[in-house]
Amino acid sequence: MQLRHFIDTSDFTKQELLDIIELSLKIKKCIKAGYYPPLMKDKTLAMIFQQSSTRTRVSFETAMSQLGGHAQYLGPGMIQLGGHETIGDTGKVLSQLVDIVMARVIEHKTVVDLANACTIPVLNGMSDYNHPTQEIGDLCTIVENLPRGKKLEDCRVVFVGDATQVCASLAMICTKLGMKFAHYGPKGHLLPDSPSAACMAVIQKNCAESGATFEEGDDRGLVKGADFIYTDVWYGLYENEMPKEERVQVFGAYQVNREMMQLGNIGCKFMHCLPATRGEDVTDEVADSEASLCWDEAGNRLTAMRGLLVYFTQYQREQAATELAIAAAKEELDSFMASRNMI
Ligand code: CP
Repeated sequence: MQLRHFIDTSDFTKQELLDIIELSLKIKKCIKAGYYPPLMKDKTLAMIFQQSSTRTRVSFETAMSQLGGHAQYLGPGMIQLGGHETIGDTGKVLSQLVDIVMARVIEHKTVVDLANACTIPVLNGMSDYNHPTQEIGDLCTIVENLPRGKKLEDCRVVFVGDATQVCASLAMICTKLGMKFAHYGPKGHLLPDSPSAACMAVIQKNCAESGATFEEGDDRGLVKGADFIYTDVWYGLYENEMPKEERVQVFGAYQVNREMMQLGNIGCKFMHCLPATRGEDVTDEVADSEASLCWDEAGNRLTAMRGLLVYFTQYQREQAATELAIAAAKEELDSFMASRNMI
């Protein structure tokens, strides 16, 4: 199997994405039953973070330890990256030292350049363009909470608020999987206006290939018939943060509150990638309601990370030394150490 990176869900077929989701859910089932499959045994993950993170950092690290491996946190200012060493050289070095890399970066180009330099798999832990590991977890959550009698392709997912990179990523994966996706947001904050504008071409291609639908605009009617209402923060992670007064003025009508949830189908669920700004993008009443999946969704970040780590290290397992090669290397080491009285 050839080396592959997880930079963008659009690099994968519908079936490959469904396989990653299914693998993630099967590993989750094993762990829930008490069996921790040692699928990352003796493997090391390097985690580059150019920005802060709670869910992505903790879920990757926990996933590695649950599967028998180890993770190294390389936070802002902790490695030579950003000093004199380039991202390319960092990738070449890490390829000699660890088995797999994840990176949360400021600019999308950084994670693309890292993947181009690495001879081991690179997973994108979020950039200014997209957040694909979030989307595998979100799809695990949707699959676990399908409305009665519906399959994925029947579901309507409505993202409300600012066109963040999570909105872009969710639109890309939902349309790839043939689902109905809508974004209800204010003019000037729709996907074509966002740092993720390039996703529009992907979404259009996905819709043509999969039969998915995509709608976007400031018409509140877009929320009608939602099976899942999803939102994200208003302050922008990659653009200059708007003062609170201004963002309430721009996005106030897009708060997910009880009235907004009532526009969805009966049984409509609430989703949020978190962190949430309670009282802005969502009310306490909705975040803590029976309809809220946002805590399960946070838990499924771990589900997704396990699946992704296992899926993307498969090729290494196929290349792993045969039993014969292991025996020969061990014999050579033992005889050298014995000859020098080391054992
Ligand atoms: N949703 C998400 O990526 O959270 P963190 O920024 O805490 O990783």
